[in-house]
Amino acid sequence: MKIIYVNDYDEMSERAATIIAKQINQAPNSTLGLATGATPEGLYQKLIQLNKQGKVSFKDVTTFNLDEYVGLPHTDKNSYRYFMNNHLFDHIDINRNNVHIPNGLADDLEEECKRYEAKIKEIDVQVLGLGLNGHIGFNEPGTSFSSRTHLVSLTDSTRKANSRYFQKLDDVPRMAITMGIETILESKRLILLVSGEEKSEAVERLVNGNISEDFPASILKSHPEVVLIADKAALKRLNVQNELVC
Ligand code: GLP
Repeated sequence: MKIIYVNDYDEMSERAATIIAKQINQAPNSTLGLATGATPEGLYQKLIQLNKQGKVSFKDVTTFNLDEYVGLPHTDKNSYRYFMNNHLFDHIDINRNNVHIPNGLADDLEEECKRYEAKIKEIDVQVLGLGLNGHIGFNEPGTSFSSRTHLVSLTDSTRKANSRYFQKLDDVPRMAITMGIETILESKRLILLVSGEEKSEAVERLVNGNISEDFPASILKSHPEVVLIADKAALKRLNVQNELVC
C-alpha cells in the first residue's frame, strides 16, 4: 500500500480527483466504484468542476456504489442514492442507466445482493472511505475476507458515527447492503481516502497492525494497487513525510 501524505482535506480531494480524471481520460468507458460519507464529498466537487470545465466526461463511465441503507426511500436525504445524486450525479454528464446502487427497498434483500453482485463489472478504480472501526463499505469488523455483496447488521459504533446526519440515533437504519470484501478487492485499483484527527487511530492500526478480519481495511495491504491518500491530521500518529510504501 502506498501512502500519500497531503496537507489537508482539499489537497486529498484534489489528488484523488486527478487520479480519477486521468483514468477516465485514458479509458472513457471506465468503471468506477464509489463511496459515500463526508470524506469523498470534496472529491466529487472537484470532479463536478472538471466536468463543467470540459476536462473530463462521464458520458461513457459506469459506476457501482459500495453500499446502501436498508429501508430508506430514494427521496430520503440520508439514503445513499439521494447522497450520490445530490453530490455528484445531478451535476455531471453521466448516463443514469450506467449508475448502480444497491436497492435497500427490495422486497427480497438477499436476492437483491445476488443481483447486484452479478451486475458488477470489473472496477477500474474503487474509492473507499475508512470507518472508525476499520470498516470499508459497510463491512464491519469480523466480516469474512471472502465475502461478496451481502446484507449486514450495522454495529453500534457505525450507527453512532453516522447518526450525525439523522435527527436521532434511533432513526439510523440497523441494516445495510454492502459490496463484500472480496468484491471490493477485485477492483484493479483502490484509493482509500482519510482525513482528520478523528481517524488517526484507525490509520495507525491500518498501517502498523496485522491483516485481520477484526479490522476489515487491513486486507487492503494485500492488494498490489492501493493508494492511501491521507492528510496530516489523519497521519499524525505515523512518521510519514511525503510518501511511504508499507
Ligand atoms: C459509512 C459508509 C462508508 C464510509 C464511512 C466513513 O459507514 N458506509 O462507506 O467510508 O461511513 O464515513 P465518513 O467519510 O463520513 O467518515
